[in-house]
Amino acid sequence: MSKIITIAVAGLGSRGNAYSSVLKTFEDRAKIVACADILPDRVERFGDNYSVSPEMRFSSAEEMLEKGRLADVVIIATPDRRHYAQAMAALDAGYHVLLEKPVSPVLSECFEIAKKAAERDRRVIVCHVLRYTAFYRRLKELVDSGDIGDIVSIKADEKVVFWHQAHSFVRGNWSNCGKSSPMILQKCCHDMDIFHWLVGKRCEAVSSFGSLTHFTPENAPEGAPERCTEECPAYTSCPYSVESCYLEPARGGNFGWPIDVVSQVPSLDALEENLRHGPYGRCVYHCDNDVVDHQVVNLLFEGGATLSFTMCAFTSGTSWGRGTYIMGTKGEIIADTGTDKITVNVFRGKSETIENVSSASAGYGHGGGDYGIIRDLLSLIDGTEDSSSSMTDIDETLESHVMALAAEESRKNGGKLVNTADFIKNLS
Ligand SMILES: NC(=O)c1ccc[n+]([C@@H]2O[C@H](COP(=O)([O-])OP(=O)(O)OC[C@H]3O[C@@H](n4cnc5c(N)ncnc54)[C@H](O)[C@@H]3O)[C@@H](O)[C@H]2O)c1
Repeated sequence: MSKIITIAVAGLGSRGNAYSSVLKTFEDRAKIVACADILPDRVERFGDNYSVSPEMRFSSAEEMLEKGRLADVVIIATPDRRHYAQAMAALDAGYHVLLEKPVSPVLSECFEIAKKAAERDRRVIVCHVLRYTAFYRRLKELVDSGDIGDIVSIKADEKVVFWHQAHSFVRGNWSNCGKSSPMILQKCCHDMDIFHWLVGKRCEAVSSFGSLTHFTPENAPEGAPERCTEECPAYTSCPYSVESCYLEPARGGNFGWPIDVVSQVPSLDALEENLRHGPYGRCVYHCDNDVVDHQVVNLLFEGGATLSFTMCAFTSGTSWGRGTYIMGTKGEIIADTGTDKITVNVFRGKSETIENVSSASAGYGHGGGDYGIIRDLLSLIDGTEDSSSSMTDIDETLESHVMALAAEESRKNGGKLVNTADFIKNLS
């Protein structure tokens, strides 16, 4: 039997737990041996759940990484602006790294991590989980089959959904760019990664527009207090109220994401207490948010293929997800994660719709991507990786960060065209 792969987990929040629960399904191949978080109750709960010995439970990632290499792989699932220093320390200690996206909101730091990984001969796998889903693998196979010829243009969108925007990007962890990342990097580096993967060419130039239009104090209903829980006159009608985002589903017995972010303890009392005092109980019009709620991006790839992308908060969730319309020289592909369908129309040829594309990976987060990335990571480390793996190294991954951060640069400069080669050159 091959050696059991040992894992250390830094950051025991939503993502650290998501990957760890997938690891439970690979008990014969991997074991979590160390964990760290700055919140002691999370360390205790996680340590007990995964039988981590007391001396291998740490009060921060920094403390854990100072001890040298305690496992084969470290999963870094801490907040965005912690990734750089922790990834550098992990590489120095000799770990392979599964690193949550974004690598860093600072592009030069992304390149430094890639350089360090090469120097230390370690792998850094970035959690662009969509690559590991049955849906996007199928889409990639269809593009690569050549049936639709060469890609000429793509029209794509990301429907964020109104309550998801309110939860994550207005009240939550990614609402403020200075504390986390620009929205186009945070939410859409996945999309940029998929575009680069599908087109198979470098992006040469980017332009973008977008802004924060709605979640500002001027748009608050008359008389709305600072917190939703403080007798707001719009409590029953506001689509963003804590009643509709959290309490109603919880009363129906749903304590899954995103309610488990507000309270890791699945009880109505604990949830109400956190809403009364924590960040998720704030009125969406009275937060410290500054990230955009809509943005459009135009991309030009080497060879002339173009892509237009729209990210928008104001979508209902009835067709939640991402749409991709690929126009090729011999046909078109229409793919929608919301309906879980891909249609291929070959000019003067076959027309086919594939339904339930994700069914093979149903049951795991991100359409099966959370499962797929762990499966492929273990195969990479124990040397059993096969050709179906979507695993990419950090160098390839950074294209998505260049595209997203170039889009942000353009957006902040009134839509000015950004040449990506110049953008990278100007970093040094
Ligand atoms: N791949 C994806 O699709 C995806 C989805 C959501 C979030 N993310 C990314 O995952 C990362 C974590 O997000 P999350 O949703 O799990 O957030 P979270 O807030 O639920 O968890 C982060 C955890 O890190 C802990 N932490 C903070 N500083 C620490 C330190 N110095 N040492 C150890 N632990 C520390 C926090 O206490 C918290 O428990 C973020 O970078 C986020 O952008 C990726």
